[in-house]
Amino acid sequence: MAIRPILRMGDPRLLQASAPVREFGTPGLLELIADMEEAMRAAHGAGLAAPQIAVPSRVVIFGGAPSSRYPDAEVVPYTVLVNPKLRALRGGRESDWEGCLSVPGMRGLVPRYRRLRYRGFDQWGRPVDRTVSGFHARVVQHEVDHLDGVLYPTRIEDLSKFGFVEELFPGQQLRDD
Ligand code: NI
Repeated sequence: MAIRPILRMGDPRLLQASAPVREFGTPGLLELIADMEEAMRAAHGAGLAAPQIAVPSRVVIFGGAPSSRYPDAEVVPYTVLVNPKLRALRGGRESDWEGCLSVPGMRGLVPRYRRLRYRGFDQWGRPVDRTVSGFHARVVQHEVDHLDGVLYPTRIEDLSKFGFVEELFPGQQLRDD
């Protein structure tokens, strides 16, 4: 099957809240995750949420490869996270640069919680429960925002820190993830 196209900012489907998954291990859910993985890898993304390929379900995937955006960041383990719940932990927020496959070519400085506990399920309904920080915590917050119809530009507090990659970071090779 052809790689599913990734919706871009301006498409109203990216602004909708997605619905929880009711059944695990179904052919439909496994196919969705396979499609998401293919689309994320093809675009060299650090993560992807189901609504980005026009499926309004509470499913995100992330990690598994070093990020070109954060070359010094830890490698986040490849994770399938269904029906996620996030809880910020003590430690406040920090700002760092983010991009998004739905906002290609751009970066913005986005505040996120530094430390986080996230819970949810994998595609088989097995529980996931992790306490994370830094880049891992940032990626999860970014992806779960997609499930609530939130794109990172709306989280930028100083819009002078939002722009095209080539202008913000001249000479650097950065991808659209
Ligand atoms: Ni995104």
